[in-house]
Amino acid sequence: MANRNLKEAKAAKNDEFYTQYHDIEAEINAYLEYNPNVFRGKTVLLPCDDPEWSNFTRYFVAKFEELGLKKLISTSFAQESKNYKSDWQPTLFESEDPRFSAEKTAICGKIFTLTGDTNQNGRIDIDDLEWDYLEGTGDFRSPEVTTLRDEADIIITNPPFSLFREFLAWIVQGNKQFAIIGNMNAITYKEVFPLIKENKMWLGATIHSGDREFKIPPEYPITAAGWRIDEFGNKYIRVKGVRWFTNLEHGRRHQPLALMTMEDNLRYNKKMKDKEAYDHYDNYDAIEVSYTDAIPSDYEGVMGVPISFLDKYCPEQFEILGRADANIGNESNIYHFLGFKDKGGAPLIKGHFIYKRILIRHLKS
Ligand SMILES: C[S@@+](CC[C@H](N)C(=O)[O-])C[C@H]1O[C@@H](n2cnc3c(N)ncnc32)[C@H](O)[C@@H]1O
Repeated sequence: MANRNLKEAKAAKNDEFYTQYHDIEAEINAYLEYNPNVFRGKTVLLPCDDPEWSNFTRYFVAKFEELGLKKLISTSFAQESKNYKSDWQPTLFESEDPRFSAEKTAICGKIFTLTGDTNQNGRIDIDDLEWDYLEGTGDFRSPEVTTLRDEADIIITNPPFSLFREFLAWIVQGNKQFAIIGNMNAITYKEVFPLIKENKMWLGATIHSGDREFKIPPEYPITAAGWRIDEFGNKYIRVKGVRWFTNLEHGRRHQPLALMTMEDNLRYNKKMKDKEAYDHYDNYDAIEVSYTDAIPSDYEGVMGVPISFLDKYCPEQFEILGRADANIGNESNIYHFLGFKDKGGAPLIKGHFIYKRILIRHLKS
């Protein structure tokens, strides 16, 4: 049901889902554990983040000194440009500011910057954020936000669900470090998979299963199950399949999976108990491994594994060769290279299609 919520939101282009503080903190902690100086001296851009709503802005303001940031830039999208028009009103904080313009607030994005203790009260906090209107709507694709992208070292956010592919392409084009939230299904998009295959992007360290709660505007039109209102009247929705997509290093991805031999899997792995052998695909020269924990340690050929394998993927242990998917498009040269029998497509076993798979092989040590 919660997954239906995301599909509904994507179809209706309802992008107002706000990430929880603890989900952000846990992921950033994993990068810091690997490299305590990963943010030191860096400019971080949060390009879909109004401090009014965004815990990304709150988190990076609160940790500005501890992380050793040089500069934080957070930009927001104009109210009138949002797909979902809430009955939002500017806060007193905003409307009493001498720069406030009701007209601009409706049609312009805003830029918030933090460089230090600007009000000189001895600490760096949300009151040190300086703000102004952008000239345009704050669309991340606009020239002015793209200039901010080029200035930044690291881009972090939960981008609009309906624009995930474009957002990722925008970051990659800028050749930036990043950590962004998206849906697991994005892995098989033709724009996304090559980055994973080439180890230019991987899954984050902290979200691997179950669902995550996002805050939504109180009057948000959600009809499916999986939502709640807390004691303060805040509305939350649970979304399945959420993952971090990043090119920031973390320790989890360098931990190899513990594996058993093929024979031991067939004998002792409860998930394999009905099998006498691993199935071979009809249309790929590869075996089907339906569960990541059934990957055999001693099979040297190509193996088809579920996309959730990427939660456990260690690039020192496996090589990713391609994907077996009905929507392969024109990647058939990969299959030719591997000596596969035809041009790809969804994997088939004894004439029956099975779910899309990632094709991997052990790296020879
Ligand atoms: C999924 S929400 C996440 C907000 C915030 N990053 C967070 O995680 O709490 C995505 C935000 O991007 C904004 N947005 C939608 N289209 C945009 C665009 N083209 N450029 C910039 N922001 C956009 C939406 O209005 C929404 O507030």
